[in-house]
Amino acid sequence: MNAALSQDCGLPTPSQATNPDITPSAESILRIENLCVDYRTNTSGSRSSAKRTVDGLNLSVNQGEVFGFLGPNGAGKTTTMNVLLGFINATSGDAYLFGTTVREPIARQRIGYLPELTYYYKFLSAEELLRFYARIFKIPRAETERRIDQVLKLVELEHARKRQIKTYSKGMQQRVGLAQALINDPDLLILDEPTSGLDPIGRMKVREIIQRLKTEGKTVFFSSHELGEVETVCDRVAILDQGRLKLEGRVSDLAEQYRLSLEQLFLKVVGYSPSKPTHLPS
Ligand SMILES: Nc1ncnc2c1ncn2[C@@H]1O[C@H](COP(=O)(O)OP(=O)(O)O)[C@@H](O)[C@H]1O
Ligand SMILES: [Mg+2]
Repeated sequence: MNAALSQDCGLPTPSQATNPDITPSAESILRIENLCVDYRTNTSGSRSSAKRTVDGLNLSVNQGEVFGFLGPNGAGKTTTMNVLLGFINATSGDAYLFGTTVREPIARQRIGYLPELTYYYKFLSAEELLRFYARIFKIPRAETERRIDQVLKLVELEHARKRQIKTYSKGMQQRVGLAQALINDPDLLILDEPTSGLDPIGRMKVREIIQRLKTEGKTVFFSSHELGEVETVCDRVAILDQGRLKLEGRVSDLAEQYRLSLEQLFLKVVGYSPSKPTHLPS
């Protein structure tokens, strides 16, 4: 957190807010070190310039944790995930998955990923889609069917496995996305806004899936704006704003330390003060 904001809202710097027992360790499954990402902005006719989108980010996520990556729209969450997934390169700094730099493709072998926006071929059924992804991962045929049964059970889509995805509700489509992310039995899941656009039941189902994954020993790193749910399901959270880490800590510690709900804390950290209610003309 920059000093000004720290003084403004009376919150400690991220390093002060970091619990000593969760500092980077050999257990870190995901580690981000001094990560900076600049995007070229441009350009027509004039010289292009660079916009710093992620600015000196440090984070680490330990084995078996559910970690909520929070921040307003445009904070740099997807950009950070894109670096982890090897879709874009860092401008400086580095990130590591299972101790291997994300510059090496092998670092991504044990991860499952759900993008912010999913587009699946809608004429396929869930099981056909999953067979397709299993082939990409070169999963043997017999093993494929066992995995498909397993993941469809986990995401509660067994009953609809033979139906075309185009007939699914938004919540079911999101759960197919989760099944796809799980088909290779990953140790780490990176989920970009998995509950976005879902109704309360859909959100609850995704939350239950995340809880089940945690029980199975998986590590989950996900972004979300559903702060009530994040509060329930996450062990730790980080709040990013304009590319900078503003606050990071164990959910229970933050609640005890600040005596605020995660939503109140979030608004304070990003410097939002509610305006007075305006009365609509009658
Ligand atoms: N490919 C890109 N080129 C230029 N700017 C981008 C690109 N992708 C994202 N941005 C900008 O970077 C900022 C962070 O975006 P993003 O990482 O998607 O934020 P979040 O996921 O937190 O909403 C935004 O201002 C966005 O407009
Ligand atoms: Mg995003």
